[in-house]
Amino acid sequence: MGTDAIDKVKGRIDEIVVLSLYSEDIFHSINTLEWVFKLDPNADIALQIAALGHDIERGMEDRTVKARNYDTFDEFKQAHALNSAGILVEIMEECGVDQKITDDVAHLVANHEVGGDDREELLKNADVISFFHVCLPLYFDRRGPETTRKRCVWGYKKLPEDLRKNVFEIELIDEELRKLVMEGIRAEE
Ligand SMILES: [Fe+2]
Ligand SMILES: [Fe+2]
Repeated sequence: MGTDAIDKVKGRIDEIVVLSLYSEDIFHSINTLEWVFKLDPNADIALQIAALGHDIERGMEDRTVKARNYDTFDEFKQAHALNSAGILVEIMEECGVDQKITDDVAHLVANHEVGGDDREELLKNADVISFFHVCLPLYFDRRGPETTRKRCVWGYKKLPEDLRKNVFEIELIDEELRKLVMEGIRAEE
């Protein structure tokens, strides 16, 4: 397998993620990869693909999972993770990616909401920080203050202590939003 197969996969991921109903998803895909590299400059190729494609199912309108069909937010998020993993496997097989890397990416993405071993934790943490970094303003516009506050606390709690400072260091242009997030998070501490 050469870099061709990997480039093809990255291209396919881009094409699908850009179709997401949530316009921030394409920035979140790239930004999650940037955070993966900030947390581990030597991140391997499987982690890179997983970062770019971890939310890919949101770009496939006919296959994306809906929160209303699940009893809890965590169940919905787990279904979302498995769905993204399955879609990425199809793409990697089509593009001729090595089985070992394909399995690795599938495993990473299936666990991106909950973490697990060191690499799964890395992806989960990059994803959470990226939510605060690039998704938050548009999420807030869609969902309003109460859901946004809950969503931020839910994400923040997934971060280990030593990475939580990243959330406070992210500059949010909107001062109101910043206050809402910080107060919500501090109330939980
Ligand atoms: Fe996700
Ligand atoms: Fe994500």
